[in-house]
Amino acid sequence: MTASPTTSAPARPTAPSNPSLAEHEQVIHCSDPASGLRAIIAIHNTALGPALGGTRFYPYATDDEALADVLRLSRGMSYKNAVAGIPHGGGKAVIIGDPSTLKTPELLRSYGRFVESLGGRYVTACDVGTYVQDMDVVAETTRFATGRSLENGGAGDSSVLTAYGVFQGMRAAAQHTWGEPTLRGRRVGIAGVGKVGRILAGHLVEDGAQVVVTDVNAAAVTALQAVHPGIETSGDVAALVRDDLDVYAPCALGGALDDDTVDVLRARIVCGGANNQLVTEGDGGTADRLVARGITYCPDFLVNAGGVIQVSDELRGFDFDRAKVGATAIFEHTLEVLRTADERGETSAAAADHIAEERMRAGLSTIWLPHR
Ligand SMILES: NC(=O)c1ccc[n+]([C@@H]2O[C@H](COP(=O)([O-])OP(=O)(O)OC[C@H]3O[C@@H](n4cnc5c(N)ncnc54)[C@H](O)[C@@H]3O)[C@@H](O)[C@H]2O)c1
Repeated sequence: MTASPTTSAPARPTAPSNPSLAEHEQVIHCSDPASGLRAIIAIHNTALGPALGGTRFYPYATDDEALADVLRLSRGMSYKNAVAGIPHGGGKAVIIGDPSTLKTPELLRSYGRFVESLGGRYVTACDVGTYVQDMDVVAETTRFATGRSLENGGAGDSSVLTAYGVFQGMRAAAQHTWGEPTLRGRRVGIAGVGKVGRILAGHLVEDGAQVVVTDVNAAAVTALQAVHPGIETSGDVAALVRDDLDVYAPCALGGALDDDTVDVLRARIVCGGANNQLVTEGDGGTADRLVARGITYCPDFLVNAGGVIQVSDELRGFDFDRAKVGATAIFEHTLEVLRTADERGETSAAAADHIAEERMRAGLSTIWLPHR
């Protein structure tokens, strides 16, 4: 176990892509040969409260790869939680191995004991490779697992409020760009109509937008069109981004915005649920290229925070209406970021990072400790 408490928020102005160990408050290696568990829990910063972030279960090729991923992801959660205005710092965990062969109730319970050992400094949730049912098992050995099923006192599927929050962010970008908080009459292209994209499509149809979608899974598109027959389809993502769109909503995988995509985009706004959309972060990167093309970019971690707002609410005894109020605030948060970016002459990505850092600096001056 490595522990290096910090007394202030991370100093770097704009989140670089490879954070160091020293930038994190605490990093814990977890090993339990009996169940085959090997995991790393990374707590990046607790200035705003206990660290909150999901558990990724993934067959990393090396331990170094796993460590680099968990450091990057946990730092991202500090920024996401700070911008979302929830009382949580940033943390994340990775379980090393192939979930299809390694995942057992014993392993998940063992993992839960490591989470419990931190006394609440880290609260876990679902991520790639872990599901609501897994969090139910993890919660058998720790009080600090969210993302559980409704039957087990949890909040269930987080994509409902994630999609709702993305819609609120898009309304704010419409207000900022066209002076009205509505997508009525706008043409919106959604890449990926899985759990988040299809719910987002429903909000947009209801708001009066013209929606065009694409997905590698034809069944997902067919199912969506059965509910909303007016939705159009595009051949693939390459065709969609060249379409005469007003708004582009990446809702599939990360890395949606590379230079080639930005160069051909016709949309005035990019706002979607996918994580890590910018291929090149920082100065001179993709965010600058979007600004140069006059495209308003809604930072992904800002607009897709509905899910984390939901699991944060779960810690208080889940109340959907209360969590929805939190996700509705993504409208105001997005407006604030877009206005701040204009005022300061920086990209929206940099403005969101800076707002998060200012909040972390105004938080606790020492690490967050569980109440005794
Ligand atoms: N579900 C949540 O609560 C949540 C919260 C925050 C962020 N996100 C992010 O939002 C994104 C979508 O999440 P989800 O839960 O809807 O996932 P999902 O797997 O349910 O949906 C993703 C969809 O994208 C499609 N897709 C994959 N590659 C594609 C491609 N090349 N072209 C077109 N379609 C493609 C898939 O077929 C699938 O239908 C992910 O990046 C995820 O990390 C999700």
